[in-house]
Amino acid sequence: MRILTLLLIILNFIYALPDEFDKQRYLQGEEIFEQKCNNCHVKSMDIQLLMKNFFEENNKLLNLKAPTGNEISYRLKHQIGSMEDIGFHLEETADFLKDYLYYPDKSKTICLEGVIKHFDTMPSQKGKISLEEIEDVNFFLYFLEGFNDVNEFYHDETKF
Ligand code: HEC
Repeated sequence: MRILTLLLIILNFIYALPDEFDKQRYLQGEEIFEQKCNNCHVKSMDIQLLMKNFFEENNKLLNLKAPTGNEISYRLKHQIGSMEDIGFHLEETADFLKDYLYYPDKSKTICLEGVIKHFDTMPSQKGKISLEEIEDVNFFLYFLEGFNDVNEFYHDETKF
């Protein structure tokens, strides 16, 4: 019993929402994503299904136009900087997004080769989204995947 309690405390420590999370800002970022990115990027899909689609079915199963928001969320957090200091990490991921959204180039990709090969380079979003809006979208994307109860998609990170 004591071990279970300890385990729960540790899990809670690892998976609890960080102080940096701000629901208002997340929702604002989500709205911008829906207006400016959703045409091409589906917000979130089951990872197993995505893997099957890209690695076994050559994107013929889902016919996606671009990687999904939750894939981007995962790759952003794991390919850029370190999650140790979330405040600083958010700035690092925002810098990547600012650069990629204005000057996209697949040679800078953070995505898996087996995923990205299905797509042409994203058209530049310069003039379509401001730097401030990118910071909000970054906030949304950062917290989209992998934090319990942030949104309708993730409630049990232990299954991840
Ligand atoms: C017209 C379609 C389109 C729109 C609109 C669009 N994207 Fe993309 N995006 C793509 C495609 C296609 C790719 C995959 C090819 C690539 O990475 O350049 C992509 C890739 C990306 C990547 C991964 C880059 C990499 O390869 O590592 C990010 C991050 C991204 N988009 C963010 C956004 C955000 C945020 C918005 C909204 C502000 C947005 N995109 C709007 C089509 C689009």
